Parts: sequence; C-alpha cells; structure tokens
Amino acid sequence: MIIDREEIIKIIESLNDIPTLNFIHQKVISVANDPLSSAADLAKVISMDPALSSKVLKLSNSAYYGFPRKVSSISQAVTILGFKTIKNLALGVMVYESLFKNQTASVDMKKLWEHSINVAIFSELLGEKLNYPNKEELFICGLLHDIGKAVWAIINPDILKYVLEVCRKTSLSFYEAEIHLEIPSHQTTGEIICRKWNFPEIITLSVSNHHTPTNVKDVYFDIVSVVHVADLLSNTVFGHLNWYPSKLINVETWNALKLKPNMVNEIVQEIKKRFESAKDFLNM
Ligand SMILES: [Fe+2]
Ligand SMILES: [Fe+2]
Repeated sequence: MIIDREEIIKIIESLNDIPTLNFIHQKVISVANDPLSSAADLAKVISMDPALSSKVLKLSNSAYYGFPRKVSSISQAVTILGFKTIKNLALGVMVYESLFKNQTASVDMKKLWEHSINVAIFSELLGEKLNYPNKEELFICGLLHDIGKAVWAIINPDILKYVLEVCRKTSLSFYEAEIHLEIPSHQTTGEIICRKWNFPEIITLSVSNHHTPTNVKDVYFDIVSVVHVADLLSNTVFGHLNWYPSKLINVETWNALKLKPNMVNEIVQEIKKRFESAKDFLNM
C-alpha cells in the first residue's frame, strides 16, 4: 500500500494550499510574539474581531478557570487570567476556527479536537506536578500538537482517509503509517503551518517533534517531552478516539522528566474532573 511518486509530488504540492491567516489574526500573533506588548495591546487586538473576542470571553468564563464572577470584557479577562492565558486562548480559538471547525465527511475532526483538549490538560497537569514554571505555554503546546492532521483535513482529506485505512489494516500507529507511506508526516505539515503563521518557537517545536522529542535540544526539550508524555497518557486514559496513536513512550524523555509512577496516578485521578470542567472548549 505505497503511494506512487507522482501522487507524492501532488501531495507535497498541496502543501502550498495551507490557508493564510486574516489580517487581524496576524496582528494577534505579532502582539503575542512581541515581548514588549502590553495587556492593553492584546485586549485591543482581540477586541477588533467580534467573533474571536466572544469566544475568548466564553472560554475565560468556563468552569475550567473557576473564576467566581462573570468576566465581561477582554481587558478584564487579561487582567484576571493573565496575558499568557488570554494570548493562548486566542491562538487556540483561531486554530479551531481555521482548521478544526471544518468537518470533512471522511474524518472525525471532533474527536481530534477532543484529543487535543485532553493533551492540553494532561500537559498542564504534568507541568504542575513537575513544578514547570510555564504552564500556560504547556496548555497551548498540548492543544496544538496534532495541528498537522487538521492541516491534512483542509488541504487533502483523502490523505487522512488513506493513512487511517493503513492503520486499520496494519498494527501501525498514525505516525508510523505516514513514515511507512513516505509522505510528509503530520509533524512536518504542522511545522509548515506554524512557520507560515509565525507561531512562537515553543509551539512550533512541540508540533514538529512530539513523536521525536529527543530531536529537540536545550531549553525546549522539557516542554516537548511533557507534550510527548501527555499525548501517550491521554491515549491510554481516553482511548484512541479513532486516530491510531503511538503506543511507545520515549524512555529518555520519561527519565529526563523524572516522572514517578505515583505522580502519574495522581494526574490520572485528576484528569477526568478537569476535563469535565473544560466542556466549553469542546463545544466552541
Ligand atoms: Fe501526533
Ligand atoms: Fe496526539
């Protein structure tokens, strides 16, 4: 079941069809990337897009953040939940709207989004257990790790159908099937869109290496390792959600994070409760 060369060239060419972001969304990213941006800059740019701001506001009011009073404006949300959280919520909404919302008849994007939320929450929880200082970043890195699959769903849904069929007929995981078929993997398509959309490096590396965390060196190794472990834990706890995940944990990653079995038990106890409180993310 190998795809012929001509077909592979067509697939690679279809990568030129990766959608672009509209002007306001590009501005959101440049504010997010600029270390000199203020809370007011962020609130201003999000508020320029009514659909984006109403979704960010809805998520800010979700049980997940547990704020007792209603948050009624974006600037209030930035003050209460912080610059990083709101910046990442905006990125998450933009990605959802551009890529995940489009349902193709052949693949279950809703299940992929559910998996993405699970991995985001697992990543955040692992970060808490490991006392990782930047847990807001872990949430968005987990949320977007499989963005490359959503890219396929937009530019070439037949590829997804084909890879999933290979998984069904073999015991290969989705990532292994991509390698087996010698097509660009969802790590690669994900990296291409992250670079095209100018996403922060920390997100780009989590997307491009969540199956190959030991390729990442230095400061980003920990965060990509957390996303890698979160992905596998999520698949163990919540099942594969029809997407044939990898089953092998990278031992080097596990050891480097110094994870203990009791920490994992605690996380598994906590995850379902947290996921319950994140229902608004599921029904955006
Ligand atoms: Fe993946
Ligand atoms: Fe995944």
